[in-house]
Amino acid sequence: MASLAPDVAANLHTERANPHWVRLGGDHKLDHIPGEDGWPVLGTTLMQLADPLGFQKRMVDTYGPVFRTRSFGRRGVNLIGADANELVLFDRDKLFSNEQGWGPVLNLLFPRGLMLMDFEAHRVDRRALSIAFKPEPMRAYCGVLNSGIASAMENWGGRMRFYDAIKALTLDTAASSFLGLPLGPEADRLNKAFVDMVQASVGVVRKPLPFTKMGRGVAGRRLMVEYFGRLVRERRANPGQDMFSQFALATRDDGSLLPEDVVVDHMIFLMMAAHDTITSSATVLFWQLAKNPEWQDRLRAEARAVTGGDGLPLAYEDLGRMELTEMAFKEALRFMPPVPNMPRRALREFEFGGFRIPAGTPVGISPAAVHADPAHWDSPEVFDPMRFTPDKVASRHKYAWAPFGGGAHMCLGLHFAYMQVKLLANHILTRFEVRMQPGAEPSWQAWPIPKPRDGLRVEMRRIC
Ligand code: HEM
Repeated sequence: MASLAPDVAANLHTERANPHWVRLGGDHKLDHIPGEDGWPVLGTTLMQLADPLGFQKRMVDTYGPVFRTRSFGRRGVNLIGADANELVLFDRDKLFSNEQGWGPVLNLLFPRGLMLMDFEAHRVDRRALSIAFKPEPMRAYCGVLNSGIASAMENWGGRMRFYDAIKALTLDTAASSFLGLPLGPEADRLNKAFVDMVQASVGVVRKPLPFTKMGRGVAGRRLMVEYFGRLVRERRANPGQDMFSQFALATRDDGSLLPEDVVVDHMIFLMMAAHDTITSSATVLFWQLAKNPEWQDRLRAEARAVTGGDGLPLAYEDLGRMELTEMAFKEALRFMPPVPNMPRRALREFEFGGFRIPAGTPVGISPAAVHADPAHWDSPEVFDPMRFTPDKVASRHKYAWAPFGGGAHMCLGLHFAYMQVKLLANHILTRFEVRMQPGAEPSWQAWPIPKPRDGLRVEMRRIC
């Protein structure tokens, strides 16, 4: 397996290690864009992290939908609105690089993931990996998830921290559906390595020093790379029905298998892309169902009608019949999208909103800001799944709702996410009534992926 020299591996997220990244050539090139530089050294970073939506709203109110900020040591330009989402996500003119947008944040731990690739190389690997999301393998994951979730339900009930419980469940089901591993010490060891990596990606210290999150994250990555390397060879010889086997057997346009180290990088990235996003959005959905019992009842009735009773599996063929559940999940994704902002870097100069934006500019869009914009959504602070009836969807700007991104990088796992959340809704709601504990109202940590600071204190009353 190809390995990188240690000094290169430790700096993959830096400009120095990436001479091909397009340079802005000095922050002064953005002097003509209205905005703020914030405090010395810290810039606007802390304000953006503390209250991203509030900060964005203030900036749009003060400077308009194209504004400049200075975070993590450099200036960048934010483009806010549905048209901006369309320009950047659809990217008709191939103006924007994902690698150079996400790379500074994710390259150290999740290098060469699909979301960090650009254009032709990205197209070829995306096509190869897509086989893992075709109906046959999806039906197999559905079976594994149904039984994994059902057996976890035996230990649920009473007062619980919903976020913590769903996170543990998502990790365990990922071991079986993604990796084909039974629960046990091996799955636990991998889960721990994985959690260390995810923690490190948001650590303040960006160098892998001993006793830091980054130090543990890089060690976790080493363990996963080694383990997955062996697993590719095993699964090629003896494939199972898990996603890893699909990736191990995926071929490029010319019929060649993806190289082993490429399979490993894609799998590690995919686990990261899947895990906290599902945990966060399922938590938001159940938080709102706990606060809106009439919607909880409607979804419970739908699950009973589709599966035929309480505590029964939801068949792959029946996923499409969970229409209200799908609408409620879409509303949860609007309400608090797991990926609130998406970074890119401009490869060439372009114009938007009357401003000339030079090559090399870090560019950010914010689906979260558009999801909260009264121009597209009446009373955006209200949870209302009826916003997603087909006629309402058809009458709205296509990019007013973009929790899964769009264009060439549109989330590859979105059908998997819908499936997992529908299965969770079925198994949880036909066994429990979910209420908030008395007086519990979570405050939410917004960054990097929304989570309730108190773990979401709910009461689960068994009904079956
Ligand atoms: C509610 C759950 C999820 C949300 C909100 C979500 C959101 C996103 C977003 C916004 C992107 C595009 C980012 C960008 O363009 O910069 C993305 C990409 C991706 N997601 Fe998801 N995701 C979710 C679940 C999943 C799951 C379950 C999987 C895998 C099973 C997955 C795999 C991926 C992959 C592989 C990409 C990269 C696609 C590409 O660049 O071609 N995601 N996701």
